[in-house]
Amino acid sequence: MAALLNFVENDLLGSVIQVDTEQIIVEIENEIILNKICVGNIVSIETSKQHEKLIALVDKVTRKYVDTLSEESDADELKVSSADYIKVSIIGTYHSVYGSEHDIFKRGVETFPQIESKCYCVSGQNLQNFMNILGKNVNVDKRLKIGTFMIDMGADAVLDGNKFFQRHAAILGSTGSGKSWCVANILEKASKLKYTNIIVFDMHGEYQSLSEGSDPIAKRYKIAGPGDLDTPNPDVLFLPYWILNREELLSMILDRSDSNAPNQASRFTLHIRELKEETLQKEEKTDTIETFTVDSPIPFSMEDLLKRLKDDDTRKGIGANNKPIKGDWEGKLTRFIARLETKLEDRTYGFMFKPLDEAQLYGWLGKTICNLLGYQDGQMGIKIIDFSEVPSDVLPVVTGTLARLLYDVQFWMNSDNRTPFTIVCDEAHLYLPIKEDAESVQKQALSNFERIAKEGRKYGVSILVVSQRPADVSKTILSQCNNFVVLRLTNERDKGVIKNLLPDSLKSTIEFLPLLDVGEALVVGDAILLPSKIILDKPLDCHRPISATKDFWDEWDNNEPDNCAINEAVEALRKQCRM
Ligand SMILES: Nc1ncnc2c1ncn2[C@@H]1O[C@H](COP(=O)(O)OP(=O)(O)O)[C@@H](O)[C@H]1O
Ligand SMILES: [Mg+2]
Repeated sequence: MAALLNFVENDLLGSVIQVDTEQIIVEIENEIILNKICVGNIVSIETSKQHEKLIALVDKVTRKYVDTLSEESDADELKVSSADYIKVSIIGTYHSVYGSEHDIFKRGVETFPQIESKCYCVSGQNLQNFMNILGKNVNVDKRLKIGTFMIDMGADAVLDGNKFFQRHAAILGSTGSGKSWCVANILEKASKLKYTNIIVFDMHGEYQSLSEGSDPIAKRYKIAGPGDLDTPNPDVLFLPYWILNREELLSMILDRSDSNAPNQASRFTLHIRELKEETLQKEEKTDTIETFTVDSPIPFSMEDLLKRLKDDDTRKGIGANNKPIKGDWEGKLTRFIARLETKLEDRTYGFMFKPLDEAQLYGWLGKTICNLLGYQDGQMGIKIIDFSEVPSDVLPVVTGTLARLLYDVQFWMNSDNRTPFTIVCDEAHLYLPIKEDAESVQKQALSNFERIAKEGRKYGVSILVVSQRPADVSKTILSQCNNFVVLRLTNERDKGVIKNLLPDSLKSTIEFLPLLDVGEALVVGDAILLPSKIILDKPLDCHRPISATKDFWDEWDNNEPDNCAINEAVEALRKQCRM
């Protein structure tokens, strides 16, 4: 078995002159090769052990000029000579033999190099061999190949699919840097597996292309918009109010500054519990009646709930001599009822408060979750959920409720039958904000996602966070991510956030971020051998997100705006429904 890394005389850079815990300085002896070395290159340093080589990244290349007294001449003639150094950070250790295995790369350092240890440049065939260590056991068409390495475009950049999805990941970058394309690229690769299970929260309806055309790789659902309520097509998804738990419902309806808020919340809760119990009786779910709670997702009629609240609000009390006196709840629920009714009438909330008759049936929930997580009749493993018509003020509750529901089902599933799934949160800053900035509705949603971020791994649920404003995304969630795909990022605050998420030895790589081109990314985490700059693959033409950047200048020169279309749009705005 030939070793993967074989160095020849020409690869020799120089030898170690200074060793620190993380950084090593190498004095260059091979001037020709120095000209080819740049920051970000990979080098290998010998250790005292035959089968171990340190792998390090070049941080800095310097040439120092020194004035020396010329020896030959007697005169005080100064001569300038140069000496070249590179500073490298150790990333890990390559073991050509490791117990019974061979060609293993491990993070961390066991044996530090000694002064005078030789340092080699890893390039050409060595580089390719090294980069391929990761994907070597995976069938070529099932690897999570996301692109090619920038330092050597011939070498495939393959991620460890298990590690990437296992413990949450994030795709971050300024707007237009290529995040959505990167998501489509990853989905495309994942779709090659037999039972992929990924649910994409699509905020702008831009992933529709993945579910259409000659080669669809995803099934798309759309959260019902105002125009879908009366004649919905089968892909329209309702999230009826009864799947929300008590806190989620209250966060939307209750005004906590109202002096009667505690009374309102307690009556609301009481009635919902009773109504749910009545449903269970009707359905003859005798077991469930014993243990259900007010938070259990059980259908009940909103009309009945309103009737009971109104009854509370108007019922008189009975005083001495049967005289009517002010009732216990009389007048205390009026404002609450009014707030609730406003929501009920608003068609933008129709997906929640005007569900189809079918979505009021007991069996609806099981069927719907099977559609989202199950695998029947050649169902697609990737589901796109289009939230583009959900009003922004409830976006957090809706995304949070859906995520919680999926997580809860997974939580209660028999552990032997669980199969893992990932939720892709596109535009995460919209509904996973930093806690201090969040309103009560958002806090509710956030806590659902934070729970998944903290505990999801145990139950096989992970999140892929996608955002253009990492500085505005919940720190709890980002800090749980193990892998980062960072595209071009120019904003200082956002860069600061990324810097804090990276290990110390990589902090200097931050400075690359504003310089990356569209579709180029720095990938860091346990899913990749080395933190690397990668040129991401483009998704196939037919799978490209419909976010196409407009060419303003060209369009202004070629495309006349269409007044008819403007009028139609005005009418669509009134109808709250696209034609
Ligand atoms: N990997 C890539 N290679 C080449 N061009 C890309 C790549 N990714 C994105 N682009 C270009 O950048 C544009 C914006 O990409 P997009 O993924 O929508 O950005 P974001 O989601 O970060 O706002 C695309 O329309 C495409 O023209
Ligand atoms: Mg995008």
